[in-house]
Amino acid sequence: MWEYTDAVKDHFFNPRNAGVIEDADGVGEVGSLACGDALTLYIKVQDGIITDAKFKTFGCASAIASSSALTELIIGKTVEEAEKLTNKDIANYLGGLPREKMHCSVMGQEALEQAIKNMRGEAGPKAEHSHEGNLVCECFGIFDEEILRAIKENDLQTVEDVTNFTKAGGGCGKCVDEIARLLRQARGETSCPAPCKAPAFPAEGMTNIQRMHLIESVMDQDIRPILQADGGNIQLIDIEKKQVTVKFTGMCSSCPSSKATLENLVEAKLREKVDPDIKVILED
Ligand code: FES
Repeated sequence: MWEYTDAVKDHFFNPRNAGVIEDADGVGEVGSLACGDALTLYIKVQDGIITDAKFKTFGCASAIASSSALTELIIGKTVEEAEKLTNKDIANYLGGLPREKMHCSVMGQEALEQAIKNMRGEAGPKAEHSHEGNLVCECFGIFDEEILRAIKENDLQTVEDVTNFTKAGGGCGKCVDEIARLLRQARGETSCPAPCKAPAFPAEGMTNIQRMHLIESVMDQDIRPILQADGGNIQLIDIEKKQVTVKFTGMCSSCPSSKATLENLVEAKLREKVDPDIKVILED
């Protein structure tokens, strides 16, 4: 469970400025429902001063608190002052956010930038990526330019840091190597330190959440289709470090070969595609 500050709890339970400004001068939409977080920020500007701001946010407690804090931070500021606001300012205003939730403050900063661009007629309300950047994380639609910026502005050091601040790498884990390369690039290391070491196994260096997503992905893509072809299926019950507990369903639950299937298919695939030390046990 996350440890939230009193300020985060207050802004979550009593959000300031939630709602819509129908005749807003600028609107910024970032995130997406599919990714689990989405924020639309509306600003009203008069004589260069932000006179009102409202938000609609879909997301967790820290996403709502960050949006609420953002509106309090920008109302009364000039647009030029608001432009200097960073995700750290949002997090600091709330007395800090759990590191795993820092991406909520980044979302606030991005929504503000988009709303200002929209107000100036430079962009539509929805953040679109320039095609100069490369898509790094397909799961969350994160481009290299966003990752590099988060690394530089927040002095990120590890792939886990990048996941906490941008969500990139928090899904299937396929982009972890590219994130690691961007970290090296940001540090000015133009090439891998020799010898360039490839991961010993696919899940090496992954966070627990990334490993769990990879296990689920292997179950979906490499294991379930084979079981389903014979009228069976498998349910993931628990993942505790390197021990994965599963339950067979359908035809597999009464199959006399279930032990062999467990070892030769389920455990073998997870060892090949995730971690060679994985142990799979069957729930009674
Ligand atoms: S591509 Fe980045 S987590 Fe899936």
